[in-house]
Amino acid sequence: MSTLVVVPTYDERESLPVTLERLRAAQPDVDVLVVDDASPDGTGRWAQEVAERDVRVHVLHRAGKGGLGAAYVAGFGWGLERGYDVLCEMDADGSHRPEELGRLLARVAADDAPDLVIGSRWVPGGRVVNWPWHRSVLSRGGNTFVRVALGIAVRDATGGFRAFRAEALRALDLAAVESHGYCFQVDMTWRVLRGGGSVAEVPITFVERVAGSSKMSRAIVAEALVKTTRWGLRYRAEQLGGLVRRPGRG
Ligand code: GDD
Ligand code: MN
Repeated sequence: MSTLVVVPTYDERESLPVTLERLRAAQPDVDVLVVDDASPDGTGRWAQEVAERDVRVHVLHRAGKGGLGAAYVAGFGWGLERGYDVLCEMDADGSHRPEELGRLLARVAADDAPDLVIGSRWVPGGRVVNWPWHRSVLSRGGNTFVRVALGIAVRDATGGFRAFRAEALRALDLAAVESHGYCFQVDMTWRVLRGGGSVAEVPITFVERVAGSSKMSRAIVAEALVKTTRWGLRYRAEQLGGLVRRPGRG
């Protein structure tokens, strides 16, 4: 089974080398695609040099900071064109431990494999190391909100350590994904579930970055709140519409 790990980067010059080295050591047979949004700190240039000497490493250069969602859509497109069987998401900053990727891959390769496996902080066995309390509250609160608004059972729908079966991604209309920030994660979870697909969670230990800084912003939180609310309302309106129309259809 061929696997591509897509790693979006924006100013990760300090973190990416360590993450990449750990990933190559933990999963030597997996290909890596760094999707860099013209990082001012030269992350893309550095990754390009690595790609020139390591056949498993590739780089997709984008014109400017376009958000996590757009970077992943581009990266998935690149991977699907090249026929990978499994496409993964992983942060560049070391928060997603490359040593745990194997557990996600084992689950997505099983006979009864789900369409999407999420490395989850908020299932039994999952944890977060070194997050300030306000980030924990935001993530837990955000996930509770998502569960209620969409009526789904996923505990960490915002988590970004993931493995998708390529077939499941092909079944989605990726070009229609317009989430810019981290709500891309919720968007993709919702698209898989609404399309009749399955989602499983495996516990992970998320370790806060030691170098560089988070790109989380108020705008990213606001986008997630507004879009999740809209998806939830639209879904419920559709369900209601179905109930009202059904008798007439006979
Ligand atoms: N190409 C590109 N473009 N990459 C980006 C962009 C962008 O606009 N914004 C962020 N990234 C990259 C970062 O460089 C990093 O590799 C990864 O996306 C995650 O960004 P962080 O800024 O480190 O995210 P975080 O630690 O605050 O957030 C974590 O928690 C979120 C909420 O649970 C991540 O795991 C997110 O995936 C998750 O949604
Ligand atoms: Mn991070």
